[in-house]
Amino acid sequence: MIRVLFVCLGNICRSPMAEAVMRDMVKKEHLEDKIEVDSAATSSWHIGEPPHRGTQDKLREYGISTIDMQGRQLQKSDFEKFAYIIGMDESNIRNIRTILGNPNSPKIFRFLDLTAHRKDVPDPYYTGDFQETYELVQEGCRALLAKIKQELL
Ligand code: 4NP
Repeated sequence: MIRVLFVCLGNICRSPMAEAVMRDMVKKEHLEDKIEVDSAATSSWHIGEPPHRGTQDKLREYGISTIDMQGRQLQKSDFEKFAYIIGMDESNIRNIRTILGNPNSPKIFRFLDLTAHRKDVPDPYYTGDFQETYELVQEGCRALLAKIKQELL
């Protein structure tokens, strides 16, 4: 099993969106028994909470469920468990390294560095633009799935 973890600040806007979109893609390609997807926060602010209303509404618009999703915080043991630990922005990457004990590992990287954008995913908690974030999340997940499929060959 290849395990993928998306990480953002609150685990209510961007990383749960990436988790749900990625899981949907994995399911559509019948790869559920090969790829497992999760998400986590660097902060403890929203532990146990469902995704932000804006993330829920945007995903529902595209037919993607957020049922049973709840916020959790990144923990040190996640480093061994996951093959990919993906931060949605550069500050997430710094916080991930701190929480995980500063490992210098290629499995930790910024989400959109997999795409031609090579930038932070804008945080809709502040921008209010869940559509912009959704489109970038789609692109990033598409790139990630292509990368993992190469590895599965
Ligand atoms: P996220 O967005 O990191 O994409 O989940 C945020 C969620 C909550 C807060 C900030 C960003 N907050 O300040 O509570």
